[in-house]
Amino acid sequence: MTPRRPDGRYGLRFYALIAGFGCLSLAAFVQGVLPMLEPQSRTDKVTQVVRTDLGELKWMEARATDYTPLQLRGREVYTREGCWYCHSQFVRPVTGETRRWGPVAQAGEYAFDLPHLFSTRRIGPDLSRVGLKFSDAWHLAHFWDPRMLSPDSIMPRFSALFSEPHTARLVTDQQGRRTIENTPETRRLFDFASTQTITLTPNQAGLLYVPERGKYPVILTPNKEFTGETVILIADTEDLRALVAYLQKLGTNRGKWRDRFEPQQMEASQTSIPRSEEWIAHGKNVYERRCLGCHGVKGDGNGPAAAFMQKDRPRNFTLGVFKFRLTPSGSMPDDGDLLRTITRGVRGTAMPSWHELPEKDRLAVIQYIKYVLAADRSKPDKPYFYFLEEPPLAPIFIGVPPKPSAELIQRGKQAWDRAKCWECHGRTGKGDGEKAAGLEDDFGFPIPPANLTTGQFKSGASVKDIFRTMSTGLSGTPMPSFSDTVSEDDRWALAYFVLSLSAYTDPLTGQPLPIPPEQKAALNDPDLRADESRQAYRPPEADQPGQPGQPSTYAGEAWARRHGFAFADER
Ligand code: HEC
Ligand code: HEC
Ligand code: HEC
Repeated sequence: MTPRRPDGRYGLRFYALIAGFGCLSLAAFVQGVLPMLEPQSRTDKVTQVVRTDLGELKWMEARATDYTPLQLRGREVYTREGCWYCHSQFVRPVTGETRRWGPVAQAGEYAFDLPHLFSTRRIGPDLSRVGLKFSDAWHLAHFWDPRMLSPDSIMPRFSALFSEPHTARLVTDQQGRRTIENTPETRRLFDFASTQTITLTPNQAGLLYVPERGKYPVILTPNKEFTGETVILIADTEDLRALVAYLQKLGTNRGKWRDRFEPQQMEASQTSIPRSEEWIAHGKNVYERRCLGCHGVKGDGNGPAAAFMQKDRPRNFTLGVFKFRLTPSGSMPDDGDLLRTITRGVRGTAMPSWHELPEKDRLAVIQYIKYVLAADRSKPDKPYFYFLEEPPLAPIFIGVPPKPSAELIQRGKQAWDRAKCWECHGRTGKGDGEKAAGLEDDFGFPIPPANLTTGQFKSGASVKDIFRTMSTGLSGTPMPSFSDTVSEDDRWALAYFVLSLSAYTDPLTGQPLPIPPEQKAALNDPDLRADESRQAYRPPEADQPGQPGQPSTYAGEAWARRHGFAFADER
């Protein structure tokens, strides 16, 4: 068939073909080529939140960093498993996305993402801000079975990423400890000759995740969490480790943005709603949908997902001990305290933030915890309800924090030495003090002193939060209250000093950020305002990227280098 008609003119089909090709090429150009020519897409510049030497949080312009080999492998697993069918990776500046997930995506964040994994469908939530949102343990539980954490999730199980489960018997060793029977299978996970022990708590069904290989297992069930004779052992695989490492990296190029993330901030205290059966009933529903997976049916902290939380155990509510309070040492928390904890979550542990849950649900679940779960039921006919028998005391007053200064930090350092914080937290705050080893919490589980250089604070990362932690202590843990022994002024100084311990570090790795001293000096200036991404501090030389000795990379470059492609370098 020729394109010409008998009269010598071109037919409609011919023009349609040309138009079709034209549109296709235009689309390929506009979507495939043009973005590469856009200077914006060749940048690795992002704005990120850093903590200054004076403990303040400021936005600055910085460079995104590449994935590590492990994270890269995780990215491959992510692609292979088709996570991107259901999860997008970009936060748009519309429909409240920034209130849900965090700051709007920036081009520089994708400098090392080729092929990119933006994806178009959101069957599950966006993941570009998921790094450090949950602990590793949360992800593991979620991959094992998403329904353990959100009952109506349609995310498939990824249990094939775990090592093969196998059943093992529990036995008692010569020192009277509960341990796992020494067999060829269990020897693949444990070293029964090792002097280093790993404490493990199975969930009610006997499922037991082993977070570390090569140690001597000790089964710890101080609150009678599990009484069975056999357990089902599972562990991670290289793929799983890599996938979790990749997820934890996502969004961390934006620094400590989460510490400034407003929807998660919550200061309220002295909120109080009277006991009501209606609220308790609603709270029960909320609890069963959202909390039961970790805190358990009875609130004893051993829900199905707790099998993965060997380090930071979910709280056992039936003991009536709560850590994070504005109420004085030894008192129950008030509703405001619980609302704050639930809204923010407990950073660095599996306890997620619930800021997306309607406030009514959060308030109702508090009632359920207070009036149903927080009870000693050892005498079934006479349960002891902690919140009724020991009503919370009035919260302490926290005034306006003083302005930070170098002198104040210095004073904080002296107070640190005098108050002997180092005995537990170590001279440099790494949590390795002389008293650190073997500390236990009231629930019977080991609890190391916080590593204060990570910048991850369970009870919040503002100076008021740290002040509160020191003033009221963390009930149930060795962390005491310093209200009586350290003056208020010294506690403020200490709070700033504690924050300064994580100054200019990467929130993910804890490593120092490559920021030259003169830029740090500029950022340290309390008068420098950089409270929002668009006010971010720009280092003076940032305007001329690609200068000698100052390489900058653009989208695709990292990929090309990785695959041994030569690329035009005409910047
Ligand atoms: C069939 C669609 C689907 C697939 C495939 C899928 N997910 Fe999900 N994912 C969801 C849904 C729906 C949710 C929300 C409910 C929940 O938390 O389980 C979710 C939640 C998540 C969350 C929690 C996000 C948050 O902020 O709450 C993470 C992390 C996650 N998925 C990671 C992954 C990874 C990694 C993979 C691939 C190994 C994957 N998902 C595959 C549907 C999916
Ligand atoms: C993925 C597991 C997980 C889920 C789901 C979960 N929690 Fe937690 N929760 C934890 C862990 C772990 C801790 C202990 C943190 C620590 O180390 O102090 C905790 C601690 C708490 C505390 C104790 C705070 C204190 O002051 O001591 C409260 C209250 C709490 N959770 C409420 C809830 C509520 C309400 C829900 C449901 C809306 C919920 N949790 C869902 C894991 C979880
Ligand atoms: C007897 C040991 C001990 C001493 C002394 C001690 N701490 Fe702690 N501290 C702990 C433990 C244990 C934790 C971890 C609690 C947890 O993870 O729930 C902790 C946690 C903290 C946290 C982290 C709170 C959070 O939100 O994550 C801060 C801040 C802190 N301590 C500051 C101090 C300061 C300042 C001093 C000195 C005035 C001090 N501590 C003295 C044991 C101690």
